[in-house]
Amino acid sequence: MDPIQQAAQEQFQKQSHRYARGHILEDTRDVSAALEGVGLAPGAEALDVATGAGHTAFCLAGAGFRVTASDLTPGMLERVREGAAERGLEIQTRQHSAEGLPYPDGTFDLVSCRVAPHHFSSPGDFVRESARVLKPGGWLLVIDGTVPDDSPEAEAWLHQVEKFRDPSHNRLLPPREWRGLCEGHGLAVQRLDVAFRKQPDLEWYFETAATTPENREKVLSLIAGANEPIRREYRLGEEEGRIVWWWPMLILLARKPHI
Ligand SMILES: C[S@@+](CC[C@H](N)C(=O)[O-])C[C@H]1O[C@@H](n2cnc3c(N)ncnc32)[C@H](O)[C@@H]1O
Repeated sequence: MDPIQQAAQEQFQKQSHRYARGHILEDTRDVSAALEGVGLAPGAEALDVATGAGHTAFCLAGAGFRVTASDLTPGMLERVREGAAERGLEIQTRQHSAEGLPYPDGTFDLVSCRVAPHHFSSPGDFVRESARVLKPGGWLLVIDGTVPDDSPEAEAWLHQVEKFRDPSHNRLLPPREWRGLCEGHGLAVQRLDVAFRKQPDLEWYFETAATTPENREKVLSLIAGANEPIRREYRLGEEEGRIVWWWPMLILLARKPHI
């Protein structure tokens, strides 16, 4: 493991219970909506990369796909097995990094990855590996936080906030960079949109990552110092005493060409 992967594994091993029931990622309407019209039939082979506590994997298994849920962190995979048992779903679990997928070429109809690539040491290796393990005609679905193209100030602000909150955060990629990675690895981008997901309460968000008191102060001071364009970009505000904002979320669907 490289140092970035190691930091992510330590962070999520410690915090795995926080990502299970009650986490905002339990709402997987974004996944279902993204896959509408893609035409994958029940029984399709799906690999969910960096599955966390398994919310995306549960959604895919519920739709009738044969799901392998993978993650770097053993504690997270335990949460997936518990969650699958509670829901009566059959899901295979595998421990490995996103940057090296231990499957033969052309294994899956779908590779999904949601709210995780910003931790990866190499999103490029992840896309290359996803393209390799997809069958011809297979789909890559990526949903992750993003930053606007050509807006270095807004990018730097969110990067600092996320890094102080959770030092295992690596980098949010702008949409143009995702497009370049997919096209560079032979995938045809079919959809590249930005939607918004609410960060509902900064205190909850701090607790989720066990943010240190010093770093909480640093985040609060970045929030206090945010200028108008940044406040507008992320819809930063207060609701009944809670600090909230809206993350721009990339929704990317790319397809491996038929031979
Ligand atoms: C926020 S959780 C993912 C949420 C999940 N995909 C969902 O839809 O609910 C982030 C996950 O990424 C995993 N992760 C971070 N870096 C990774 C890497 N390089 N390879 C594989 N998994 C990684 C962490 O262990 C953690 O479980």
